[in-house]
Amino acid sequence: MEQLLNQIAEYKKEMSAFAAADEKQVEEFRIKWLGTRGIVKSVMGEMKNVAPDRKKEAGQLLNEFKQFAELRFEELKAAASGVMETGFSLDISLPGDPQPLGSRHPVTLMRNRIVSIFQRLGFAVAEGPEIEDDWHNFGALNLPPHHPARDMQDTFYIQQNPDWVLRTHTSSVQIREMEKGKLPIRMLMPGRVYRNETVSARSHCFFHQVEGLYIDENVSFADLKQTLYFFVKEMYGKDVKVRFRPSYFPFTEPSAEMDVTCFICGGSGCNICKKTGWVEILGCGMVHPNVLSNCGIDPNKYTGFAFGMGIERPAMLKYGVNDLRLFSENDVRFLKQFTSAI
Ligand code: DAH
Repeated sequence: MEQLLNQIAEYKKEMSAFAAADEKQVEEFRIKWLGTRGIVKSVMGEMKNVAPDRKKEAGQLLNEFKQFAELRFEELKAAASGVMETGFSLDISLPGDPQPLGSRHPVTLMRNRIVSIFQRLGFAVAEGPEIEDDWHNFGALNLPPHHPARDMQDTFYIQQNPDWVLRTHTSSVQIREMEKGKLPIRMLMPGRVYRNETVSARSHCFFHQVEGLYIDENVSFADLKQTLYFFVKEMYGKDVKVRFRPSYFPFTEPSAEMDVTCFICGGSGCNICKKTGWVEILGCGMVHPNVLSNCGIDPNKYTGFAFGMGIERPAMLKYGVNDLRLFSENDVRFLKQFTSAI
């Protein structure tokens, strides 16, 4: 019995002194002490040699020895896996856990850029609803029912109410601003729009636009051009050339589309500009008199211009994004590449 006591004390000392460098050594400890052929098992086997009157005492001793070994094993395991329960694996030189910071979405960055340029010309920002009634999305914009130009944009209709649509353009916000009856108007209207189109690298069922509207006495096409020249210069640099092509929109007369020289190839022709050297940026024109009177504005007294541009395309060109779907998939690996402050 005395011999057993001494032996146990020795074993405990040995276990306490043991330090495991890694999980492999912890496993070696377990096999040596707690394994089926381990030391604890064989010490427990000594029970049969203990005199009957001391069996109770020896039983307690051996149990306590077994628990000691088990506890020591747990400690070593925790220390090796870096868990701090026992306190002695704390490494204060390790860097802390990073706290990831979000960044602005590239569409937001491009929208803010566009907005900030027009704000310098005195344009204020307004927003409107994404679910629109037929009047604001079409009717008031000089697109009466059955007007063929309604087919220019594939519309999503809301099932519960045939009068409601997901707006197909931000031009609907023009109407809401004009209806307020406060003139003059100098507004920029950014927002999300929806079209029933097959999702692909080049088209999506939703995207973003910025709409511009300026209404006052004596506003002319020359004002429209000067405003857009300023925008292009600020946005794409002073070397970029601009051209207006006659076009058709029911809500403007005359209407035009504006191109700039391709800012990828500088006008010599590449895949982006389909070898033409020009990239289409926006649609614009003088607000149609019907639109003004639909909103209670006297077309004999007031005139105005409007324009509408997409946000995704310039963002794709600026940031070198080649697939429109990336903008709406919210893949952090894509999003975290945009760290600009605006
Ligand atoms: N709403 C047109 C579209 O989505 C863009 C547009 C063209 C807006 C001419 C305008 C404009 O304000 O004057 O294709």
